[in-house]
Amino acid sequence: MLILNKTAGVFLKPSKGKSFNFHPGTLFLHKIVLGIETSCDDTAAAVVDETGNVLGEAIHSQTEVHLKTGGIVPAVAQQLHRDNIQRIVQEALSASRISPSDLSAIATTIKPGLALSLGVGLSFSLQLVGQLKKPFIPIHHMEAHALTIRLTNKVEFPFLVLLISGGHCLLALVQGVSDFLLLGKSLDIAPGDMLDKVARRLSLIKHPECSTMSGGKAIEHLAKQGNRFHFDIKPPLHRAKTNNEKGKRGRTHRAILFCKQRDLLPQNNAVLVASGGVASNFYVRRALEILTNATQCTLLCPPPRLCTDNGIMIAWNGIERLRAGLGILHDIEGIRYEPKCPLGVDISKEVGEAAIKVPQLKIEI
Ligand code: KG4
Ligand code: ZN
Repeated sequence: MLILNKTAGVFLKPSKGKSFNFHPGTLFLHKIVLGIETSCDDTAAAVVDETGNVLGEAIHSQTEVHLKTGGIVPAVAQQLHRDNIQRIVQEALSASRISPSDLSAIATTIKPGLALSLGVGLSFSLQLVGQLKKPFIPIHHMEAHALTIRLTNKVEFPFLVLLISGGHCLLALVQGVSDFLLLGKSLDIAPGDMLDKVARRLSLIKHPECSTMSGGKAIEHLAKQGNRFHFDIKPPLHRAKTNNEKGKRGRTHRAILFCKQRDLLPQNNAVLVASGGVASNFYVRRALEILTNATQCTLLCPPPRLCTDNGIMIAWNGIERLRAGLGILHDIEGIRYEPKCPLGVDISKEVGEAAIKVPQLKIEI
């Protein structure tokens, strides 16, 4: 049973450290979307308006619980989503000071992600949609990561995006709100997954400064204090051949060159966006910046707290879809979550067949 105050009663202070517009209680004249995210281990919700003002936000992270069990146990994640979703949605609405009846639509992540987690967000959202009689906008989690940058920066289509998170590593050309060309993806596991495994092996949870941090965040935090010359670590895949289509280095570099060669991106000032949890890492950003400088591109990344999972990116994707008139459902009959779901049209074979020679680039940070 959902209990939502007609006019949201509790007025929360906005959380600190936002570099984007956060205007709780602002007079709204625009379309407003409630976004709900439960695809993995964060229960998150936000209310965002058409101009990108974040009117309210709330998030409950399960990181601490999953760190103790050494990884996400889906049934535990599901229970925690169930325990928190009502409160989190209520907090986001209360902070926004809008009445739920003023929402233009409800947008929720339905793909890809953990089945049990996605299910909680979807069934909660569908009840709310029925109760408030609002349109429903199903959201693709990775598309939402990719378009977050358009909330914080003025970025036109097309742009290249590198999505690096706990579950994915994707390179795509973003041509429109739901028009993606997949250029390539990781050979094996996602970078966030790898960092989490390394952190676990090093028992970083036992480090007093890192006990509540995700693996990737803990590694970045400790690496800043370390001596980078202590071990001679070779860059990954450095022995792979680079002079044929099987070349394994400089994948992002190759994607930039491919897009320019095919006139899919402008020759000058093309934009590379990096997003997803691992893109909050400043070492990764610096490496990408060296690449974009060498290829006359501009690197743009959302602020770290918008790179990791959040409700704002889901609400914003709802706004993007509402503005473009794409995927707005007035009938929710038969809507299902999809744990596995590709991103866009896969042209990675074509990229490989183009056999583009990638020049050597020294990445020294
Ligand atoms: O996008 P995200 O919040 O969730 C998924 O969609 O997967 O990404 C979570 C991943 C985790 O693997 C976490 O270890 C990693 O992002 N991560 C980081 C940092 N903060 C989070 N990796 C490197 N550096 C960070 N600062
Ligand atoms: Zn994510």
